[in-house]
Amino acid sequence: MVKIIPKSTKLLEWLAARNSLIYRAISLYYKKLVKKEVALANIKSTDKVLCIGGGPCPFSGILLHEYTGAPVTIIDKDARCVCVSRELIKKLGYDNAIKIILSDGNDIAPKDFSVIHMAAQVSPLDKVFLHLKQGCCFGARILVRLPKHRLSKFYSINEYSVFGNYYRKAVHKWRNVGSTALFIKS
Ligand SMILES: C[S@@+](CC[C@H](N)C(=O)[O-])C[C@H]1O[C@@H](n2cnc3c(N)ncnc32)[C@H](O)[C@@H]1O
Repeated sequence: MVKIIPKSTKLLEWLAARNSLIYRAISLYYKKLVKKEVALANIKSTDKVLCIGGGPCPFSGILLHEYTGAPVTIIDKDARCVCVSRELIKKLGYDNAIKIILSDGNDIAPKDFSVIHMAAQVSPLDKVFLHLKQGCCFGARILVRLPKHRLSKFYSINEYSVFGNYYRKAVHKWRNVGSTALFIKS
């Protein structure tokens, strides 16, 4: 039950990675969300972006690159997702700008990145966030997608309070993601 949203997201993304109609339909969900996040963190082409939890079809990482021109590194801990998303990135012609790496967010060293983006489905979201916040450079911006409170039991968050001290927040309507919180390492 707890993992029902992450699991169904993954399933839809498997289909999207292989079918361009489904890809275009689902990317509509992400476009407005990512545009707001680009503005929230003021992401520029000179930034280096790290996305945690790309899934088989890493819409957010792709759109972050398309909207800003910044190089993007996407990690996922699931080897099958990494294979499928690498194929997709190649098919889209983005293999020079977008790298996909097999890794757990808990193990990655984030110090080379100026922007870190976390999907709401990252598990456990609070623990990975604290690891990244501790290891990133001063001034790095961390964007965390937070599920709506009433849906949080379907995600992997043990301690919601770690997300209380954000710098700014973008609120999203009509989505399972309630907001994206921006943290700046100081
Ligand atoms: C289905 S995706 C959703 C993201 C969406 N594709 C996007 O573009 O925003 C969520 C992915 O996060 C990955 N994931 C969950 N916890 C993780 C962690 N600790 N480290 C790396 N990847 C993780 C899962 O394997 C899954 O593929």
